[in-house]
Amino acid sequence: MIADKTRHRLGTMYLRDQWYVAALSLELEQRPFSRQILGEHVALFRSASGQVVALADQCAHRGYPLSLGTVVGEVLVCGYHGFTYDCAGTCVAVPGQDRIPSKADVRSYRVVEQGLWVWIWMGRGAPDYNKLPETPWLIESDEWSSVSGVAKIEAPFHLLVDNLLDLSHETYLHNGSIGTPEVATTPLEVEVDEENRVVRVFRHMNEVECPPFYSRTTGLEGKVDRWQDIDYFPPGYYLLHARLAPVGQPPLPDGSDDHGFHMKILYGLTPSTETSVYDFWALSRDFCVGDDEIDRFLEKMQAGVVLEDVDALTILQRRGEGTFEVNEVSIKIDRGGLAARRMLMAMYDEAAVQA
Ligand code: FES
Ligand SMILES: [Fe+2]
Repeated sequence: MIADKTRHRLGTMYLRDQWYVAALSLELEQRPFSRQILGEHVALFRSASGQVVALADQCAHRGYPLSLGTVVGEVLVCGYHGFTYDCAGTCVAVPGQDRIPSKADVRSYRVVEQGLWVWIWMGRGAPDYNKLPETPWLIESDEWSSVSGVAKIEAPFHLLVDNLLDLSHETYLHNGSIGTPEVATTPLEVEVDEENRVVRVFRHMNEVECPPFYSRTTGLEGKVDRWQDIDYFPPGYYLLHARLAPVGQPPLPDGSDDHGFHMKILYGLTPSTETSVYDFWALSRDFCVGDDEIDRFLEKMQAGVVLEDVDALTILQRRGEGTFEVNEVSIKIDRGGLAARRMLMAMYDEAAVQA
């Protein structure tokens, strides 16, 4: 059982020296928009030259949200009185005078666009690029096709961690799409890599029912081998390697696996506030590459799956807010989630010491 104190800490702390997904690449247009990340309001936009920019969403003059301003070429003009900022947040013009006050700059955040996702460094110091996740599948290629989306959940970050680390819930919560009885009945293995800060959860289901999500897209029918290998990199990045293949045909000893269908299911877990979290997702597949119809199908299915999670976590959170007391009884399926909590707690402790 997770102690109340632990639950409280998981729900109320942020790990700042990390990369988080800030936006889908598709969301970034020249019209700025606002997103609250780790409690901070951030204005995101794309300059005329295509550069992705993230600035504090608060004008230095009177605090008007910069996300309500206008992008003009490579600058953002505040929508209230026209203070003008370049892509680094430096104020380059103010109305009615030539002299620019010395404290008129706003904070800029380091962002990196990698295919379908845009990452943001939320630390105060220089970004640590070694920590930036590599997501080659999200870059359009002849080998991988991807779709992506985002949902906001009115529940704390740690509830989403719990949800993603235990896929047994697919059987019950997502039984019309990705859940089959065998997900819940097949035992899982957990591996904790302390050095590289990864929690791995493996579930290999052999000779099991192929759920609609995959039968429609792979063409496989009847029984299949279905593997789910999770790599969770706390706090904000989760990668599920899904493999579907005809029964009894594992990858060859040299690692090649041409008869398998592979999907990378990525999640970006980005705390918005202490009680809300962004659930960024992307599905990349190495089959039906370039097939728009399959793209639309997967997008729709996955959006439905995510919505079921959104509903479940929102209900849990509402329960937690009332007089209802949550008592947890953990079982074997929770080992991945518990390992993730422990790793996160260690990271919070480290961050607290460094602060
Ligand atoms: S508040 Fe932005 S220019 Fe006045
Ligand atoms: Fe789910």
